Amino acid sequence: MAVRKLAPEDMQPEIFVLSPETEAFADKEVAKYPPGRQASAVIALLGKAQEQAGGWLPRKAIEAVAAKLDMPVIRVMEVATFYTMFNLEPVGKYFIQFCGTTPCMLRGAGDIRKVLESRVGEQNHVSPDGTFSWLEVECLGACSNAPMVQINDDYYEDLTTENFEKLLDDLAAGRPVKKGSQIGRNRSEPHQAVNTLQDPALYDGSLVGAWRNRFEEQAKAAETGEAAAAVASVPEQAKAAKPTAGRPIESDAADTPAKRAKEGETPINPVDRKEAADPSTATKGKSHTEEGARPAPQSSKSYVASPTKDGEAVPNSPTTPEAGTPPAQAETRRDGSESKPDVVVTEDNKTS
Ligand code: FES
Repeated sequence: MAVRKLAPEDMQPEIFVLSPETEAFADKEVAKYPPGRQASAVIALLGKAQEQAGGWLPRKAIEAVAAKLDMPVIRVMEVATFYTMFNLEPVGKYFIQFCGTTPCMLRGAGDIRKVLESRVGEQNHVSPDGTFSWLEVECLGACSNAPMVQINDDYYEDLTTENFEKLLDDLAAGRPVKKGSQIGRNRSEPHQAVNTLQDPALYDGSLVGAWRNRFEEQAKAAETGEAAAAVASVPEQAKAAKPTAGRPIESDAADTPAKRAKEGETPINPVDRKEAADPSTATKGKSHTEEGARPAPQSSKSYVASPTKDGEAVPNSPTTPEAGTPPAQAETRRDGSESKPDVVVTEDNKTS
């Protein structure tokens, strides 16, 4: 890639003023963005300024764009020197961008380059009559029609030394030229026999939505197959179902008031009624500690037994509390927390 720097001072014009057309274009572009975001239009404006300046960007044009967009000049300069579509030196009336990337080279771009060198001279120099200048660039995206060049805004493809020489002659003479393929190819179709994508159904619209039809047909076939499978699975002489088939089996509970009433017994067990009437058997508040063993309180000591010399297992610490020891008598935890106090069930809290 060529070095991106501004043209020498002796090539720079002393003044550049945006034309009314460029001003109107700039206002239209700036209006596309929110207030304060006018810098977003910088590329569009640089392109228009380049067009006004005859195909390249003098320093004064860059400064004029910066002023129009209220941007620091250096920021506009950064954009102008970064993108290769902005020419920083004068170009010919016909600016030729020659593709020198592999597909074009494999298809004869080397010969096209020789024509340019013989007709125009070295790249980045304008021909003596000011008609042509050229620059080698990377792939321009028309590889299928290689080799090719871009002249100003148009592509010229399928070049040979002969048709390229004629193209340059016609441009220099001001004669009309044919854009695109120079060998009669239609866009990027095969330039000889067309032997692919020839089924008329591809173009008559009959295949539009074909993928959807296929899925619907498959779903219908699956439904039909399932229905047929279901019919085939029904035995010819179906057996009568058991009365309880598919239903929960209900049976009487062992002893309920309803069962007793049904059997002619007193609904409430007489023994229960008697006990309920006896105040001496009413539930009293009891501490859990009265109900036998309970989980051992938490302690910082390990309860893993260690074998002794005699092979017996004893607790690791002689201070390990006995199971059921009240928290008040248990050793204080290392972390300072106390055991959770026992909950005593009393008449006051047993129903809460
Ligand atoms: S390589 Fe030349 S156009 Fe892609």
